[in-house]
Amino acid sequence: MAAVATVVHGTVRAPGDKSISHRALILSALARGKSRISNILESADVQSTAKVLRALGADVPPLSSEFLVTGQPPRFLRDPPVPLDCGNSGTTARLMAGVVAGVGINAKLVGDASLSRRPMRRVAEPLTAMGGTIALAAHGGLPLEIFAKPLHPIEWNSPIASAQVKSAVLLAALFGGVQARVREPHLSRDHTERMLAARGVALHLSDDGRTVDIEAGQVLRPVDVSVPADPSSAAFFVALALLASDGELRLSDVCLNPTRTGFYRVLERMNADVSMIDVRDEGGERVGTLVARPSRLRGITISAHEVPAMIDELPLLACLAARADGVSEVRGAGELRVKESDRIATIVANLRELGVAAEELEDGFVVEGTNRPLRGTATTNGDHRIAMCFGVLGALSGNSVLIDDPACVDISYPGFWQELQRVVG
Ligand code: S3P
Repeated sequence: MAAVATVVHGTVRAPGDKSISHRALILSALARGKSRISNILESADVQSTAKVLRALGADVPPLSSEFLVTGQPPRFLRDPPVPLDCGNSGTTARLMAGVVAGVGINAKLVGDASLSRRPMRRVAEPLTAMGGTIALAAHGGLPLEIFAKPLHPIEWNSPIASAQVKSAVLLAALFGGVQARVREPHLSRDHTERMLAARGVALHLSDDGRTVDIEAGQVLRPVDVSVPADPSSAAFFVALALLASDGELRLSDVCLNPTRTGFYRVLERMNADVSMIDVRDEGGERVGTLVARPSRLRGITISAHEVPAMIDELPLLACLAARADGVSEVRGAGELRVKESDRIATIVANLRELGVAAEELEDGFVVEGTNRPLRGTATTNGDHRIAMCFGVLGALSGNSVLIDDPACVDISYPGFWQELQRVVG
């Protein structure tokens, strides 16, 4: 049920992948030698990681399209004189908690109001089980204070599939010089594993990838990193092309790591016309071009095992479901409630405000497709992905969607609105 008279055209190179950008900075700053980083995401979240690393004494230059990081041995890091401000970034807070605990420094992690509400016990527990001393705020969120202590080996069964938790344990083990095994219920994004292996760190992965072993006493080698485009950012333009009435959009250099492409597998089941071309291996990641065209979508059911590989795309999926034939249902996605906003509540409230029939489930949502014009205000709660997915709906002719806080897209996609304007019309 595509809206009438929206024509899209052109090629978009979405900004660098957010997950890979954080990891490129952390691993380069602590490697033995110089690493060149190109195409890093220059957004607020990645700036938070850069600032935290600098406050610990790492040599991280201003972010630009290409720059050199001179790594320092982790023992050169120092207790920061001020709290480490992670801004809005869960990845900064959780990965850097692992780094700080591993290196053995005293530091306090803080963040903005949204990040301060998000759960940190999930990293505090394994780090404590490794021998760390961690103090958390009473509600289980930031501020999180780490006291320097030597760590010991760990075998951690994470109750949730979270790349941030897995990475925190692996980084703590690496910098603490101890062995660790992490197991998760479903495979989460595996960039940390790939990037550590590329830097010469010995890891052992189970056949299904859900169990990772890291050996004790390893050193990080420097490696040049070219950051591919973020599939979660590219997804907004893929969705726009699917809902348009004519034309085609190409998304170049997109990271097509299978732990990130769940959204694209689901789109196929929704009858979406999306193809991957020019697929190649670049620096240990699968990269390619996505080509998306207007499609008549059908509703879909998604269950828990599919969620980790598309967790960040679920708000966008809800917006596509609002324009698909029939009813869509997502379950097993309770993690959405503890993202930058409670994304289940935020998505459903906004869809309803625009006149779409939608319902919250404890661990997901139900959305009924409609071809009525969508009109109203989308309340983002400062959540960048909510702003962008309702921005896509608003860009389709016949719809009129006011975004209450358009600037919050700077968290992951500076320039998003300009790019949207460029490809429509
Ligand atoms: C991320 C992991 C995911 C994802 C987030 C980035 C990462 O979070 O939602 O946007 O870079 O490791 P969880 O690990 O909490 O699922």
